[in-house]
Amino acid sequence: MPELYIGLMSGTSLDGADGVLVDLSGASLRVLANASHPFDANFREELLALNSPSLNELHRAALAGNRIACAYAEVVVDLLAQVSMRGITKNQILAIGAHGQTVRHQPAAPTRDANVNTWAAYTLQLNNPALLAELTGIDVIADLRSRDVAAGGQGAPLVPAFHQRVFSQVGTGVGVLNLGGIANLSVLPQDRSQPVLGFDCGPGNALMDAWCQRHAGQAFDAAGAWAAAGQCLPDLLQHLLDDPYFLLAPPKSTGRDLFSVKWLDQKLMPFAAARPQDVQNTLTELTASACATSVSSYLKRSNPLIVCGGGALNQYLLQRLQALLPALKVSISDRFGLPALQVEAAAFAWLAKQTLERKPGNLPSVTGAAGPRILGAIYPA
Ligand SMILES: Nc1ncnc2c1ncn2[C@@H]1O[C@H](COP(=O)(O)OP(=O)(O)O)[C@@H](O)[C@H]1O
Ligand SMILES: [Mg+2]
Repeated sequence: MPELYIGLMSGTSLDGADGVLVDLSGASLRVLANASHPFDANFREELLALNSPSLNELHRAALAGNRIACAYAEVVVDLLAQVSMRGITKNQILAIGAHGQTVRHQPAAPTRDANVNTWAAYTLQLNNPALLAELTGIDVIADLRSRDVAAGGQGAPLVPAFHQRVFSQVGTGVGVLNLGGIANLSVLPQDRSQPVLGFDCGPGNALMDAWCQRHAGQAFDAAGAWAAAGQCLPDLLQHLLDDPYFLLAPPKSTGRDLFSVKWLDQKLMPFAAARPQDVQNTLTELTASACATSVSSYLKRSNPLIVCGGGALNQYLLQRLQALLPALKVSISDRFGLPALQVEAAAFAWLAKQTLERKPGNLPSVTGAAGPRILGAIYPA
């Protein structure tokens, strides 16, 4: 019997909504349909603005949540159209796992705020899961990060458990590097009795995208061609790497709360004369370097490093990663049966299944939560 789930992801890159329809029965995973719907430039701007305090933000956040739900619903229609000729209808989809759009991620204070006698830690993903359930007629599982944060965890990354499920056949001690807006690493243990490790390495595409939009008028640097035309500025690179986040020990996670355009602009102040393409090259080197340092700290042997997320399509970035990690073989996840842009959406389909079956989705070894937890809330169709 197939077990059909839909996973929907819109990450910190703010590029759009990615969806997959997967069969999660048995040990294997089969992607039956996939779709990516980009956000238009205005909506991307609004989501970016909602990452910082701004006027009337509660109202605007609610509207943005509705819009996310509508965008997700369109992806669902697209996915269902792709499988209709196989006779698959929405009634056979067990649930949708919908990530939502992170606009604040502040999990780092798992202690009570003495002033207000309440928890200071939270993570916020804009979405309207009730509307998504209404529009699709399918059970929706959403807000998958908050329970881990409530249990003292980072609420992120949540993908390592899924990486273990799909990539452990590649071998033990494998690294999986997800290059989204933020980059996160999963390390599958050498000894299967040991826990999986994982954490956010630092910026992935977010800063490169912002710089490319500002100076080249493009949402992203296709294949890293613009960065490749520039040169690395070693002093700037050092200055960028000089942030305490890079030295923190896991568990750790981050977002645009830290690695924002404001952060970048402050760092760039002493380098006002730098050529834009050299800054782009240096930002690419920042991502490569922060990831390579993380990888070489946790992958001791010459094990495979599987790269996924949209940044895996940045050939120049991958080339730099491979150059910084000569002992490892860097491969894109497509080589192991799951295309780079589908991995994270598939992870949220799997997380939905875990929740529906009342199984934990987090890994305390990764997030630092007090224990395994069943994640999210269910919005019945
Ligand atoms: N052809 C490409 N060349 C370079 N970068 C790309 C390409 N395609 C996608 N990307 C990068 O991947 C990002 C989207 O990746 P994604 O995995 O969706 O991240 P997120 O989960 O943060 O949304 C884009 O913003 C862009 O930076
Ligand atoms: Mg994306």
